[in-house]
Amino acid sequence: MERLLIRGGHRLQGTVQICGAKNAALPQIAASLLSAEPLTLTNMPDVVDVHTMVRLMTHYGVTSTRDSSSVTLKADGARNVEAPYDIVRRMRATLLVLGPLVARFGAARVSLPGGCAIGARPVDLHLKALAVLGATIDLDGGYIVAKAPNGLAGGRIVFGSPSIGATQTALMAATLAKGESEIMNAAREPEVVDLAACLAAMGAQIEGAGTHRIRVQGGQALHAGRHEIVPDRIEAGTYAIAAAITGGHLELTGARLEHLSAVGEALEAAGVRLWPTDRWLMVARDGALRGIDIVTEPYPGFPTDLQAQFMALMTIADGASMIRETVFENRFMHVPELGRLGANITLQGTSALVRGVKALKGAPVMATDLRASVCLVLAGLAAGGETAVSRIYHLDRGYEALDRKLVRCGADIRRVPE
Ligand code: UD1
Repeated sequence: MERLLIRGGHRLQGTVQICGAKNAALPQIAASLLSAEPLTLTNMPDVVDVHTMVRLMTHYGVTSTRDSSSVTLKADGARNVEAPYDIVRRMRATLLVLGPLVARFGAARVSLPGGCAIGARPVDLHLKALAVLGATIDLDGGYIVAKAPNGLAGGRIVFGSPSIGATQTALMAATLAKGESEIMNAAREPEVVDLAACLAAMGAQIEGAGTHRIRVQGGQALHAGRHEIVPDRIEAGTYAIAAAITGGHLELTGARLEHLSAVGEALEAAGVRLWPTDRWLMVARDGALRGIDIVTEPYPGFPTDLQAQFMALMTIADGASMIRETVFENRFMHVPELGRLGANITLQGTSALVRGVKALKGAPVMATDLRASVCLVLAGLAAGGETAVSRIYHLDRGYEALDRKLVRCGADIRRVPE
């Protein structure tokens, strides 16, 4: 195990290359199971979660070849077996194989998933979607058993609340379900739109991705496809906050401002400047930070995956900030760790009241999940003295070369054995 030693107080300046989105890559890797012909995904981020997903594919007999940042997945010899718990427990996105497996093979047995401990994270909406498309679902000793021996058939799936993963499960399964499917109250995140684009490149007929109502004409075999993964809006938002928290100036190449609208608005209200350049996106802060309130919401609202990072920023703002989490009920594990660095935060139910302090002071802290760990790194960049962040394997799950990218822009960070 490794940890990061951060000496704070350096203004970041330079250019950061934003990678393809991890959360777009994972469902698209699972989508390779839908066809016997190869799927090539370009702009693939080099992060542990992607490696885990590709390893899971190997288990299903999908071969993969990697060429710099593109991966080709071939599922011609795919077999329908039980997913090993040891892989599945590592991340929740492994659940995304369920839809493709039952759609292509008529049956699937997948362990209930693990992943970041940020709330109850049920799977009912995934199962509901498959049941509407004609699968029978049973739970057996910690496994989901889905069966559709005569194949799936199109149907009208109405979600009570929008779920990214369940929309992706529905979308993938619907491409092979005979006839028309409709997904109502679908998630509108760019990662859903990107999955639809990837499936379209494989021959699927999909309309309405990015809106609340997606329609799919399914039942045709999918063919070989090639798709470039959308840039990671959460990685871009994280580096935007890194610029802001250090009073720095960063150019984010590859970042798409249109995917960051709520984040951009919040940063500007807090005293950070963002503007598009000929090439991409600039973020800078010269003046004081102001405390502002945010509420996490499904897209296009403020993303829950940037809540922890934004909280780190607010710890040193003038005034107070109320941060309300509405997507996951238990996503405040970073709060006591930020407290160790001198932050003044009061938790009340699903809200955190952050009273800005003059300065943070370095201390040993522990990462508890992916976004919480990066929030501690950001806080460490602003804190005086040394911050040691342990358990950074969480960080490596979702950020490609985070410490190297920050060091190139002037941060003082060392990766050392635990
Ligand atoms: C995805 C992201 C994750 C992000 C989250 C919310 C991936 C791989 N992960 O996770 O980084 O934090 O979106 O933006 O893309 N829910 C149910 N029943 C279900 C499924 C979800 O009640 O069957 C609830 C969840 O508990 C949560 C809400 O729906 O409260 C949204 O979750 P969802 O959008 O499904 O998140 P994930 O797809 O798991």
